[in-house]
Amino acid sequence: MASMSALQSILYGLFASTGLYALFIGLLTIPVLQDQVIYLNRVTLTWFQDVNIPEQWGFLRNQVTPFFLTTPDGESLHTWHILPPELYRENQEALSAEPHGLALNVKERLSFKLLRDDPSSLLVLYFHGAAGTLGSGWRPPSYRAMSANAPHRIHTLVVDYRGFGSSSGYPSERGLLTDAITLAEWAMKEAEIPPSRIVIFAQSIGTAISLSLIHHMATQPEPTLFSGVVLVAPFADVESLTATYRIAGTVPLLEPVAKFSRLLAWLNTLIATKWPSKFKLADFIRRCEDMGQEHPKYDITIIHAEDDYDIPWSHSEQLFWHAANASIPHGITFEELEKEKTASRVDNHAGGWAVERRTRRGVIREEIVKYGLHDRIMSYPIVSLAVMRAFQTLT
Ligand SMILES: *[C@@H]1O[C@H](CO)[C@@H](O)[C@H](O)[C@H]1NC(C)=O
Repeated sequence: MASMSALQSILYGLFASTGLYALFIGLLTIPVLQDQVIYLNRVTLTWFQDVNIPEQWGFLRNQVTPFFLTTPDGESLHTWHILPPELYRENQEALSAEPHGLALNVKERLSFKLLRDDPSSLLVLYFHGAAGTLGSGWRPPSYRAMSANAPHRIHTLVVDYRGFGSSSGYPSERGLLTDAITLAEWAMKEAEIPPSRIVIFAQSIGTAISLSLIHHMATQPEPTLFSGVVLVAPFADVESLTATYRIAGTVPLLEPVAKFSRLLAWLNTLIATKWPSKFKLADFIRRCEDMGQEHPKYDITIIHAEDDYDIPWSHSEQLFWHAANASIPHGITFEELEKEKTASRVDNHAGGWAVERRTRRGVIREEIVKYGLHDRIMSYPIVSLAVMRAFQTLT
């Protein structure tokens, strides 16, 4: 902690004494530079490591199959297919005898056939956060958490979005949605997994991408609803994030500006990237509530740690409120909902607390843990449990 505040004071000192901060804010009004700050996609964190050798992050030989997906607008997305450990054990000999590394034709690989040909296989589509690649930080341990509660059948697919890692192109709000749709369509059409056996998992900026995805899928003439959605450390929208976001949980980017609400509002009008998650989630829920019995029910879980210094858990409170409000025809105020939550919540003591709202057409949960920070939490059992629960086909 001491080093964090030391870093802060050095930065503040530097900004204040030289006017660099004003320059920095000025630069932030340039869209291309905004995107660099929001996505941090060039901060790969796996420098000098070949992301086609997943064993470097503790996976077994050929437990992960790296391959490329192509988007309709011509980008190639670096993708990992991660086998659950028990299924791996059952097929270990055949798997380790296969060719190694990047699969030029993934459909020839045993891993792909194990996913496609087993009618009981389940699939997590994983949408990672800003910065880094498929192999960065707490992501590899969190892939293992996806299948922890059904190690014989939960597969995981994760992509580096355009502009990230070995994928081509540059990130944008529209482009990242296209990437998410590409992954989902591939899973349903090529791997032949129906949406009832698919769970969407996302963290940080991935939650904005996945909310955009589920909204898009649910608003098509033929709506598609996935079995469930698990959102970890989400944010309400970019506008509310600018005031609170800290780079690497340390550098409060706009805190000096946030003290002047007019200045912050002005800066926000210049930020082209919106990611309006709270409205996407609310609209998704309104539409689902209006759907008939022939459609599946929705299942949304929001998870946040109280000690998340990058994105404060108040963002999850906002998202949960927008979701709950949208599920009630006449709506509910934030304060009313907070009262209801206090009365109905399950107190897990040092483990935090949880609330669940069952509506006509679905369920919304908020689970707040005391410890987990911004990234580490993704590898925790609370996530494994939430993913398992989100596979409604199991119940
Ligand atoms: C809450 O729901 C009501 C009724 O649908 C709506 O009029 C209102 O705009 C919603 N509030 C928010 C903050 O979205």
